[in-house]
Amino acid sequence: MNGRFACRFDPDRVVTPAFVVDEGLLHDNLAILDQVKERTGCRILLALKCFAMFRVFPLLRQTLDGICASSPHEARLGREEFGREVHSFAAAYSSGDIEQLARTSDHLVFNSFAQWQRFRDLAERTARQAGHTLEFGLRINPEHSEGTVPLYDPCAPGSRLGIRRADFQSDKLAGISGLHWHNLCEQDADCLERTVVAVEGAFADVLPRMRYVNFGGGHHITREGYDLDLLVEIINRFQDRWGTGVYLEPGEAVALNSGYLVTTVLDVVQADMPVAIMDASVPAHMPDVLEMPYRPHIIGSGLPGEKSFTCRIGGLSCLAGDIAGEYSFTAPLVPGDRLVFTDMAIYTMVKTNTFNGVQLPSIILYQPATDTLTTVRKFGYADFRDRLS
Ligand SMILES: Cc1ncc(COP(=O)(O)O)c(C=O)c1O
Repeated sequence: MNGRFACRFDPDRVVTPAFVVDEGLLHDNLAILDQVKERTGCRILLALKCFAMFRVFPLLRQTLDGICASSPHEARLGREEFGREVHSFAAAYSSGDIEQLARTSDHLVFNSFAQWQRFRDLAERTARQAGHTLEFGLRINPEHSEGTVPLYDPCAPGSRLGIRRADFQSDKLAGISGLHWHNLCEQDADCLERTVVAVEGAFADVLPRMRYVNFGGGHHITREGYDLDLLVEIINRFQDRWGTGVYLEPGEAVALNSGYLVTTVLDVVQADMPVAIMDASVPAHMPDVLEMPYRPHIIGSGLPGEKSFTCRIGGLSCLAGDIAGEYSFTAPLVPGDRLVFTDMAIYTMVKTNTFNGVQLPSIILYQPATDTLTTVRKFGYADFRDRLS
């Protein structure tokens, strides 16, 4: 089944709004990631910033080697709930962050030589006191852009992410065992290939001194048509040439097309065209739709004008732009109809907010083998209130 266009549970059985994650589709993604691991020996981490539904960590850790964290909270979640390797990176750390991360992380990656030098002693001391082994890495900026959207391009001019070659102090690498970069977003292996050429050109003197190199995320490995053979070739060639291990830390590829946001139409108002208002909110529940921006797919819908009834789909909040897009359906929408948005496991649950006090969607796990929908978490007034005072 392709979770991009259909779902195999009955949406009328879902109390909305709710994120529903299909465990079988996650399994299919993991099978692809497993092939990459088998054919290369590389290690693959889950980027928690994208998908952190820890209920499914027991399934994910059968394939994935650990997680990558962007904060002490994510690192702790990874340590406590995932239980394998924890790699942490943030653009900058405070001493309080270091004291926490040194206890929960196996690898701590710095974004500048200044932070590495300032915090090395503290991190080593804290880890030693906790009886914990900690390795250190540095994030480089490959100075090679593949992205077209500056918001998602860590190599865009003025980017604060990663050390540029001109600022790289090769004489200060004692204690550093890994290099890390991240410059891709939903891209294929050809983009990685060109990035690797750029990194090899700029850091050829540094690579042989590293135990591992982390190629970051943004590899759309589980998307139909992704060039898996090229990815495997790039990783194997890199490992052979430089004698280092390779890590990947995808978020999207792990949970791509495996989740849904199920909503209900509450009303249909007449503006310049019919506008259906659902019991969910675009900025609160799927903020990437506005941030990126993109038009999410709704199961059974067509492009405007393609089917007989065209309408806008909007959310509950006060924001005039709380609009998912324009769609067409075979019949006019009426209150009570379910709207099922696809590809809603990634960058959704981790980003939700309670703007306007709108209800947070429940989190539901679907097990296709038994056709079971299990409510993992429901949210209520306390979840709204407790963030405010
Ligand atoms: C450092 C780093 N690693 C991994 C990822 C995960 O990327 P994706 O979910 O696109 O695979 C990101 C995303 O922003 C990132 O910034």
